[in-house]
Amino acid sequence: MEARWVSWSEAGEEILDLRRRVFMDELGWREERIHHGRDSDGLHLCALSGGRIVAAISAYVYEPGAPELAAMELPGVDGPTVEIGKRVELAAYRGRLISAQIGTSMLRQICESLQPSRFFLIVRVNDHRHLIERYARRNFTYHTEIGSGDDAIAVMKVEGGEALEEFYLKHRDLARESSRSGGIPVPSLVRFLVDSARGDLLAVERLGAENHYLELLSRRAEAPRLTAQGRLILAEQRPRLASAPLPPAPASLLDIGSGPGEYLAAVAKEGPLAGYRVRGVEPAAQLLARARANFPEYTFRQGTAYATGEEDASHDVITAHFLFVHLRSPDLALLEMHRILRPGGLLYVVDVDDTSFRGPKAIHRMIRTYDYRYAGDRMVMNDLPGRAAEFGFRLVRRSATTLRNTGGPEPVFGRDEIRLGRAEAWNLLSFVRSQRGLDEIVQEAEEHYLATGCEISLNLETQVYRIPSPQEDGR
Ligand SMILES: C[S@@+](CC[C@H](N)C(=O)[O-])C[C@H]1O[C@@H](n2cnc3c(N)ncnc32)[C@H](O)[C@@H]1O
Repeated sequence: MEARWVSWSEAGEEILDLRRRVFMDELGWREERIHHGRDSDGLHLCALSGGRIVAAISAYVYEPGAPELAAMELPGVDGPTVEIGKRVELAAYRGRLISAQIGTSMLRQICESLQPSRFFLIVRVNDHRHLIERYARRNFTYHTEIGSGDDAIAVMKVEGGEALEEFYLKHRDLARESSRSGGIPVPSLVRFLVDSARGDLLAVERLGAENHYLELLSRRAEAPRLTAQGRLILAEQRPRLASAPLPPAPASLLDIGSGPGEYLAAVAKEGPLAGYRVRGVEPAAQLLARARANFPEYTFRQGTAYATGEEDASHDVITAHFLFVHLRSPDLALLEMHRILRPGGLLYVVDVDDTSFRGPKAIHRMIRTYDYRYAGDRMVMNDLPGRAAEFGFRLVRRSATTLRNTGGPEPVFGRDEIRLGRAEAWNLLSFVRSQRGLDEIVQEAEEHYLATGCEISLNLETQVYRIPSPQEDGR
């Protein structure tokens, strides 16, 4: 079984056929109900078995002011509204909840790359009133009922910043769970939109206006934490950099999410990178100002991972140190990175991977709760290779260093491991306190940590990708 985003011109007839079999033959609906006025430019996600579509779900994007919204008695909102509809699956596949599974992934991906201001769906109350309750469990609220008799529909919606965020977090969690338990992998919506010349739907600006890293942190507490982390990582990275297939100087390096620039300035002096032309991109004005003041020898520009402002194919190397975990849309960042890297260029990523955390239950629970609520994604390193492959990146190195709390005050560097003191290791997790509503869980975890001699560990991953040059691709 595989999932695929399809265009209406390519698969519309097959989807209509499926809707006919279910909506008309099984439910006895009229022909007109199998059509949707926006099908031709809808986003259709299908599940296929043996190359045949066995389930489908569709999403329709409306700009503010679209007449369909007024017809649903939905008042104006600033951004796009997305309707989810025409979910259908062949009877033989229903027990496997295929359309529910691909639907969850569709909602997650729409939140991540389109960032709509509202979702809505309609329920035909005569046949499906029970679905109102089911969608309510997925955070849709009842909006209104329109029409009467056989044609009566209930409109359900999700709207407003907080409700949309809860909706996103829930569907991301369900999608992760589904992929952990062997669900059907769903390809990237960003990739599909770009390939089908619909890239204008991507919420590049709205996503770029978010900074999940900064929104929770107190800068006074974070600056020393980041400096300490930078020192540790530099030592950890030295052998990794030395063995990475980096091009010889002078090459052009762009660091994305360069923050105050300290780590970039330190790493740029390392052997393989010394002599490179170095630039940084950073969205936060205050961090950018610090980087420019402290490191005038490098160029820093304001931009985001989704819109760096750099020229096409203008860099040999891109570095992303502790960036990906703070992004809502890694796919959109990968798209941009691919645009500005030269063929043969390298993407060098360093980040933590919370899926590797090992430790007692109470601390595990703290990490999981934080991860559930954080709009960035501290588990992204786990699926970055799969995502990056969709954007033309080939994974050429992947290594993990396990950070353990079994050392003394001075870190001890072993092969693929660093042993830290108990207090120093706990300090690396201090960012969890920034998340609202976690106080009790953090306190419980901390008490457990202090009262027991428990061991904890977490992996730091380095992943190096290359965009194959045209010659390599042709091989
Ligand atoms: C943990 S800090 C890492 C800073 C630096 N790379 C280092 O290793 O010291 C994360 C950085 O990513 C930046 N950031 C957050 N969202 C971003 C986005 N959408 N695009 C680019 N950078 C972003 C933050 O402002 C911050 O500077």
